[in-house]
Amino acid sequence: MSGKKVIIDCDPGIDDSLAIMLALSLEELDVIGITIVCGNAPVEMGYENALKILRFMNRLDVPVFMGAAAPMKRPFVNALDTHGPDGLGGSFLDSVPSDAYFRQEQTALEFLEQTLLAESVSVIALGPMTNLAALADHCPEAFARIDSIVSMGGSFRSHGNCSPVAEYNYWCDPDAAAIVYRETDHLGKRIHMVGLDVTRKIVLTPDLLTYLKRLDPETGSFVEQITRFYFDFHWEWEHLIGCVINDPLAVAYFVQRDLCSGFEAYVQIETDGICRGQSVVDSMQFLKHDPNAVVLTQVDALGFFRFFFLRLLHLKKDPDLLPLLVRT
Ligand code: BDR
Ligand code: CA
Repeated sequence: MSGKKVIIDCDPGIDDSLAIMLALSLEELDVIGITIVCGNAPVEMGYENALKILRFMNRLDVPVFMGAAAPMKRPFVNALDTHGPDGLGGSFLDSVPSDAYFRQEQTALEFLEQTLLAESVSVIALGPMTNLAALADHCPEAFARIDSIVSMGGSFRSHGNCSPVAEYNYWCDPDAAAIVYRETDHLGKRIHMVGLDVTRKIVLTPDLLTYLKRLDPETGSFVEQITRFYFDFHWEWEHLIGCVINDPLAVAYFVQRDLCSGFEAYVQIETDGICRGQSVVDSMQFLKHDPNAVVLTQVDALGFFRFFFLRLLHLKKDPDLLPLLVRT
């Protein structure tokens, strides 16, 4: 592999699964490990789901590590209401048998620590930041060696998706998110915050799904199988025809930075009360604090779907019908 080394920290989860599929399709990336955190699904379920996705992608060689089973201080609240009873849209795909996969004994924390002490790699964080905060607490030297962090999480101007102001990943473990932003600040680095302002624009519509199936029946049907529940959820709760697929945007942005744009700012995560999990963005520099984040606010949604389909399906040329199918 000659791509850039990354670790995907995630909670699969429907959109995490699409993100993993995309990441494994990109020649620019070398996914050296997937670390699982509790979030959308309990951590054991997330682990099994990651294996199911790796099997579909024919990549059971990628190591998966079990991470935190609960947030740092808060009781764990999963998002199975959004992601289905099995965390994969009620698809109930067969489990990956134990003889088909070498199960790692190392925990996510051990893997992160050992890997980062040996070399600097990037992390694409698609779930609550419990594993990363644990690393920052337990081994600051390893945390300091993270090359870049792209985080799906938070929100600047857009409303929350599990409270008036908070996005799920930061709401689920606000203490962890607060630590990761604080420690990044101490290091003088910046987290790339791919929040709801941009991910809300990434709507997989029935038209797009049909097109995906036409282009590649096997992959399209698999995506349909795991997203059907997500479509129903969005209709029930938001009267949206389609589903918002947050996490793949973070992967696409990691590789193609011009898909999103925004501004640098100091960000702090609120840990308590009605604003629990809110990403407070000091866009007007009231606090006179150096930036610790790049806050993404604009996204080229058509560009994203072009990238997603082209790369996931290994197409040679741009899917030319996409402009007709993407709502921008
Ligand atoms: C985030 O929370 C989860 O439901 C999704 O997987 C995504 O990472 C969106 O708020
Ligand atoms: Ca996720």
